[in-house]
Amino acid sequence: MGKMAAAVGSVATLAAEPGEDAFRKLFRFYRQSRPGTVDLGGVIDFSVAHAARGTGPGAHKVVKSHLNVSSVSDHDAYRAGLQPVSKWRAYGLQGYPGYQWHWVKQCLKLYSQKPNVCNLDKHMTTEETQDLWEQSKECLRYKEVNKLRPRSLLEKLRWVTLGYHYNWDNKKYSADHYTPFPSDLAFLSEQVAAACGFQGFRAEAGILNYYRLDSTLGIHVDKSELDHSKPLLSFSFGQSAIFLLGGLKRDEAPTPMFLHSGDIMVMSGFSRLLNHAVPRVLPSLEGESLPCCLETPLPADLPRDSVVEPCSVEDWQVCASYLKTARVNMTVRQVLAIGQDFPLELMEENKRDITPEGSCHLDDENSQVK
Ligand code: OGA
Ligand code: MN
Repeated sequence: MGKMAAAVGSVATLAAEPGEDAFRKLFRFYRQSRPGTVDLGGVIDFSVAHAARGTGPGAHKVVKSHLNVSSVSDHDAYRAGLQPVSKWRAYGLQGYPGYQWHWVKQCLKLYSQKPNVCNLDKHMTTEETQDLWEQSKECLRYKEVNKLRPRSLLEKLRWVTLGYHYNWDNKKYSADHYTPFPSDLAFLSEQVAAACGFQGFRAEAGILNYYRLDSTLGIHVDKSELDHSKPLLSFSFGQSAIFLLGGLKRDEAPTPMFLHSGDIMVMSGFSRLLNHAVPRVLPSLEGESLPCCLETPLPADLPRDSVVEPCSVEDWQVCASYLKTARVNMTVRQVLAIGQDFPLELMEENKRDITPEGSCHLDDENSQVK
């Protein structure tokens, strides 16, 4: 037993660095976690029924919350590829199995295109970033047989912004840097927000994060939106991650929880402005494989007015290959309150700095945590 026990770390034995806050301590603990190397028993698992009922350490923090079943018709849920709201579990909403592929494909094939902005724009011309999907698909399809190949452009993609484009330098949105928000993602977001009690939510800005297995998302608060009374929606696909939800201040120790493929996280009310981070994306236990909910890509039938589209076997092969070592997260935000406008001085400030930036809060291994 000796050797095994010594190899298994625990939060209690992790020495704090001098002056380190509680959030950063736990971030470091989970960043170094690989399956079998540290104790993941403290990470809330919404997909395990008993965890939500309260046995594990942290489980007392999980409460079932109310959903407005009547705000979203079963048909509108179906159009967005979701189960009827009556079937959702409010602590960890699950996407309709078989329909997640639509959003994965949109993130890789469509949303990565112009006029949306991405991290590659900083160092590449519009022609070079023209069609990342077309340029990368063959490379990804033969990923397994050719491990020594150069990394494709899709694998170098770290973030894409939609709608009001987030400026990573000044941490602001501005009126003069806007492109149309994808209507399918807006529809999905409106249904989820309405079910959570936020009728009239408007999807105005999106940040898509593309994680590799060694990527982390630094500790931060999403406060750039001008209306914090509206929720922030987050959709996760592909490999699971450990998500840390902290307090208003960084010296409050965060609560660790798994985010699995198909999970939807809604940050609203008090939790809208809490510190959070992703210290770890977990590789699948069986080596390079997909979560089982993504294994059946083709839908039986879709409603005539469906918002999610069928995905070809060919397209799914590319997505599946990509997701075996990746996680994709879409966050959707309402920036302005109804009738609100950007403050004038913000518009002036942003005129001087409208070039897309390469930096982001998503880091790969060995880079500094912000
Ligand atoms: C973000 C964010 C969390 C995640 O994009 O602001 O916090 O689960 N994403 O990737
Ligand atoms: Mn965030």
